[in-house]
Amino acid sequence: MTKKESLIELRPHFSTPLALFENKKLIKKLKKYIYAQNVQGIESNVAPQVKRNLKESKFDFLISQEKIIMELKQFIWESINTVLGALQNENCKYMINFRDSWFHIGTTNSIHEVHTHSNCSWCGVYVIQAGDDDGGETVFVNPTAITGLTYWDYGSRWVEQESHMRIKPEDGLMILFPSHILHHQSLYRGKKDRVIIGFNLQILGKDRDGNGAEELVDMAIAPPKPPVKPAIDPSNYQTQGY
Ligand SMILES: [Fe+2]
Repeated sequence: MTKKESLIELRPHFSTPLALFENKKLIKKLKKYIYAQNVQGIESNVAPQVKRNLKESKFDFLISQEKIIMELKQFIWESINTVLGALQNENCKYMINFRDSWFHIGTTNSIHEVHTHSNCSWCGVYVIQAGDDDGGETVFVNPTAITGLTYWDYGSRWVEQESHMRIKPEDGLMILFPSHILHHQSLYRGKKDRVIIGFNLQILGKDRDGNGAEELVDMAIAPPKPPVKPAIDPSNYQTQGY
């Protein structure tokens, strides 16, 4: 047996999933809907110190029965179902809660510094208008590079080679990512507005019976029983699609 043959397997464990989808059918109406809100400044008042040259809505953007918003939620729900079904090797539908949702309108020199998202397991960015081809990428930081290594040398080059993943905005691109990943929006230098929708998802369980109540009992997010009552407004739950 040669030395090479004695290596049984080199396993790429602990990878980080980033899921990219494309849907251009919704963006025209969503853009119109967003601009009609006439948002000024950081209306959410969430971490304004890490956001520059951005307008941001309140964090309840998707809490609406408007047709275009319902279509967007349906798209997100189908997408997260696809991702989780593949990652968790399950053939089911999931009950999700849109914990937070917002939009950004970024102007020239907009930037959103490094952050993670809390109170959710999955997050998403949906690009409504990428703007000019001049920055504004969503940049993800390799978790191993940040917290996994306490010492670097030449043997760490395999991490260094992919310390960041930069994803260029494209109209209609949606990225789903786990909430723990550090990320930021790189400096956008374009003149045209850069418009995105962001959201945080809680996955409350499998939607086995269509009403979700049974699943909530077993989830940490649910209140102690009795009563069996969801802690979050049930009108916001995704159970059977929008
Ligand atoms: Fe973010």
